[in-house]
Amino acid sequence: MTLEDEFNKLIKSDISGLAFGDQLAYLKTYFPSICFSTSFSYEDQVITHLLKEHSEVTVFTLDTGRLFDQTYDTWNLTLAKYGLPIKAYYPDTIGIENFINEHGPDCFYQSVELRKKCCWLRKVAPLKRALIGKQVWITGLRAEHSTNRQSMRQFEWDEDNQIIKFHPLLNWTSTMVEEFIKDNNIPFNPLHKQGYVSIGCSPCTRAIKSGEDFRAGRWWWEDASKKECGLHLKQ
Ligand code: ADX
Ligand code: SF4
Repeated sequence: MTLEDEFNKLIKSDISGLAFGDQLAYLKTYFPSICFSTSFSYEDQVITHLLKEHSEVTVFTLDTGRLFDQTYDTWNLTLAKYGLPIKAYYPDTIGIENFINEHGPDCFYQSVELRKKCCWLRKVAPLKRALIGKQVWITGLRAEHSTNRQSMRQFEWDEDNQIIKFHPLLNWTSTMVEEFIKDNNIPFNPLHKQGYVSIGCSPCTRAIKSGEDFRAGRWWWEDASKKECGLHLKQ
């Protein structure tokens, strides 16, 4: 039976109503190779906390080389608090060298094509390496993030990466996330308190003003319909 067939069985069992720990226990029985990608966002910090007694889940981050200093600080604080291994994946050195030597270090502002190429080199290609041999990929996506994410399901088949995606916080509100962080004294990226609701690479992320869309601060110079870095293709 293929992983996709197994996924279709999982969907029929409908475990979306279970608590996170029970969902994970169910998944582990059928799909032992589980990973979680963290960008050290509010959402990802909640998941890291929930995973503290589940060391069998591999935690990884994609260090693009262009992250905010505050993101590295949060990474350090997370290591100190949870003592869990967080495997970092990096872009291919020669690929980045060639790209920057040809187009310059901040060429992503010049065109959508160059921006997507940068995202491919710095995020998507390393992600593909991180997902090798994995059956389930846990993410911090939430429905409130964008219109596209509102139509998502907690468990999805990722055709491109041939993997089951699990979004445990899909239906959490921002308030629920913030309260959980506070109640459990979880380290968080201080930029979240300065108007940065969605945090990616520093040259491509800015704070939003009140009333602006959740993702308005990401690739703000681009047409909203093109704002996608390729990590979550359908979203
Ligand atoms: S993105 O596609 O726009 O960059 P977003 O910042 O909303 O994604 O984050 C959604 C989820 O993607 C995070 O909860 C996390 O699981 C994953 N993710 C995003 N960026 C990274 C990263 N640099 N390293 C690891 N996981 C990431
Ligand atoms: Fe490059 Fe910006 Fe994409 Fe980061 S978000 S990988 S700096 S284009």
